[in-house]
Amino acid sequence: MRVISTLRSVLRFRKFEWNPVTRRLQTAASISDLRAKAKRRLPGGVFDYIDGAAEDEVTLRRNSEAYGAVEFRPRVFRDVSNISLQSKLFGRDLSFPLILAPTGFGRIADSQGELAVARSADRAGIPYTLSTLGTRSIEEIAEVSSGRKWFQVYVWRDRELVREMLERAIAADYEGIMITVDTAVLGRRERDVRQGFTLPPKIGVGTIIDGMLHPGWTWDFVTSDPISFANVKGKGVGDGSDPVTLSDYINSQFDPSLSWSDVEWFRSIWKGPIIIKGIQTVEDAKIASDLNLEGIALSNHGGRQLDGAPAPFELLESVVQAVGGEIEIICDGGVRRGSDIAKAIALGANACMAGRAYLYGLGAGGERGVDHALLHLREGLERTMALAGASSLAELTPDLVRMRRD
Ligand code: GLV
Repeated sequence: MRVISTLRSVLRFRKFEWNPVTRRLQTAASISDLRAKAKRRLPGGVFDYIDGAAEDEVTLRRNSEAYGAVEFRPRVFRDVSNISLQSKLFGRDLSFPLILAPTGFGRIADSQGELAVARSADRAGIPYTLSTLGTRSIEEIAEVSSGRKWFQVYVWRDRELVREMLERAIAADYEGIMITVDTAVLGRRERDVRQGFTLPPKIGVGTIIDGMLHPGWTWDFVTSDPISFANVKGKGVGDGSDPVTLSDYINSQFDPSLSWSDVEWFRSIWKGPIIIKGIQTVEDAKIASDLNLEGIALSNHGGRQLDGAPAPFELLESVVQAVGGEIEIICDGGVRRGSDIAKAIALGANACMAGRAYLYGLGAGGERGVDHALLHLREGLERTMALAGASSLAELTPDLVRMRRD
């Protein structure tokens, strides 16, 4: 029978994959697929903490949409048989221009948490930034990664505690610090308010039901050590071992009087690169440059702080015009594809930075999920460069992009 022989020649069943992580990752073709898989695997409150942002989440959406407003002017018939993604940042090699952003509470997505992310960044040859509010300590990260490590600084009212953390980061061979300056008070993340989200997640009837619906996550969570703010454990400032909302914690512990005049204090302790994270205007970029700081991260904290703040990618051109070449510029927020990174480099960024992109990977498939996310971004950048006609980052020049006309 012809039908049978035709069917026989075309029917191919994919071999059933028994490993659930491999199964999940093999159908994740994009960061947005990883997000969907993380959403399925994580309890609602945990997913919303990662995925959500301030108030109407306008800035969150605009961070990604901003990349869509720019299109390529691809040049063709160029030899792109060898593409290099290498560059230098603060004088050291970067295997492709991406920094892993500091994100708090890594272990709510996966029990390995920040360790998994730091190992993955090390393998990928890119810097990992540990959050002050990480659930793995400065030293634990240094034990698993000999790669480039940066430490993100929130400033407690107790300044000696901050000094001590900086000294620990120096001793553990961290390269740079990233001072977050957009969190004088915590933005209102309404998904967290609705969910009553605390760290660690409080166990109530809702959480038990949610936990039963997400057995993979629940088993991983209950069979690993309890979560706490590993960097301030035992320091008398609340280490997150009792459920606390992030806004109560930050608003009571962090110093809202922090200002540019404090930079000198940081410089007296930290001799390596200092990066200011949370720059949102050309004026502030100029101040950072005039203070001879090494780097700025254009960032609105992934839309989690001031809703209505500008998308970093939209700020990039004017900041590059004002201070490009004087200070290294990192574009943070909304990165979901390698082509986003290509556009930012074309407009003069030294690197991009991403948080949620790898957290979706962590939530979907632990450490292998982070590898998957990083590979996706790296390969996407390489493919974009081949298609746009640039074989090195230096060839990704402003004339390869333009604003869309529609
Ligand atoms: C912490 O910094 C957060 O944005 O949740």
